[in-house]
Amino acid sequence: MKVLVIGSGAREHAIVTALQSDPSVSQIVCAPGNAGIAAACATRPVDVSDPAAITALAVAETADLVVIGPEVPLVAGAADALAAAGVRCFGPTAEAARLEGSKSFAKDVMAAAGVPTAGSRTCTTPEQVAAALEEYGAPHVVKDDGLAAGKGVVVTGSRDEAMAHARACLDAGSKVVVEEYLDGPEVSLFCITDGRTVVPLQPAQDFKRVGDGDAGPNTGGMGAYTPLAWAPTGLVDEVVSSVAQPTVDEMRRRGTPFAGVLYVGLALTSRGTRVVEFNARFGDPETQSVLAMLQTPLGALLGAAADGELAAHPPLQWHAGASVTVVLAADGYPAAPRTGDPITVDEPPVPGTLILHAGTTEVDGEIRSAGGRVLSVVAVGADLAGARTAAYAQIARIHLRGAHYRSDIAAKAERGEIRL
Ligand code: AMP
Ligand code: GLY
Repeated sequence: MKVLVIGSGAREHAIVTALQSDPSVSQIVCAPGNAGIAAACATRPVDVSDPAAITALAVAETADLVVIGPEVPLVAGAADALAAAGVRCFGPTAEAARLEGSKSFAKDVMAAAGVPTAGSRTCTTPEQVAAALEEYGAPHVVKDDGLAAGKGVVVTGSRDEAMAHARACLDAGSKVVVEEYLDGPEVSLFCITDGRTVVPLQPAQDFKRVGDGDAGPNTGGMGAYTPLAWAPTGLVDEVVSSVAQPTVDEMRRRGTPFAGVLYVGLALTSRGTRVVEFNARFGDPETQSVLAMLQTPLGALLGAAADGELAAHPPLQWHAGASVTVVLAADGYPAAPRTGDPITVDEPPVPGTLILHAGTTEVDGEIRSAGGRVLSVVAVGADLAGARTAAYAQIARIHLRGAHYRSDIAAKAERGEIRL
């Protein structure tokens, strides 16, 4: 089959790479892609926020399956437009993607489905925000209700900072969600679903803060690893039965079934497992490591989800060992990333590693930075220690002026220091 992948990040580069090893996939096109994806498959320009343009491209390319990477086209209705044109699509409809597109909607679905999550108040005035901050106390968690590319959430001990973020969201016309603070390690679990059956992938952990030791502001994600040797046995089954399945069932009951990948972001708190957030798509950078470990052909799996045939899909197979992903970010990321600088890589590559591009472009045969998160180094090793060593050896061979990365991705897990 011919697969059209929509998006331009390292997540989409990872999806393209996984599809390349699926014998049922004969052709891959990615739109718009980036410099690294263009070296792996055909690319086409497209405005990802324009469902009609995505649909026209899919029809022109006679794609047998469209895989939508980012949230923006999903929330804009790309899956709806493709379905209306009779094109098979992996990704939820706009109504279903509201699980990511509106945090207050997600809270409402969780309440209806009995899914454990942080207590929250949806606020439309500074007075309501002040009352909610008082109710929950510090640390304060203040979220923009809508999509904000991973930067809409402020977690802070400072009431002034919490209030300032809330005011900025309200001034921009957004609702604000104030939440109870969740302690404990975070887990990302991607659940493939056709709207009825739920198939979980291997859990991963990502690193949202920009700096080592979780210092600095939140980002789109600075690194990830899988599997989680420290996770309690039965965690995946528990999350499927207490979170993913009830959510999928509730969405179907509402007449807006969710088909695609339900990204369940969790905190394993002292009072039990709680949902931090839902996303309606694969997470970046966790996907880079999770797909590196997936042995089952990806195209057939996503096709089965698109067709409502997941119940008949064989159990997933995984490679042994572990994978670590380290994100290389541009100078100034996340506040004001600098772009346009040349990127060079020493040869030969470190064995067991892969460079997946995100914000890159090719200018006169030279690869240049073109975004905040520039690329991901993905390593697979016999264990976490081996994967970490390889990932950091490879990232040291990449040169980009002012670039930065976290040096502690998967370090606590490797040292056995994650406590529940
Ligand atoms: P979100 O966009 O909702 O995933 O939030 C981004 C990050 O903020 C999460 O990955 C957490 O690290 C943190 N966060 C969000 N909600 C909470 C919460 N209720 N308690 C503590 N940390 C949170
Ligand atoms: N890894 C965080 C995200 O994709 O939202």
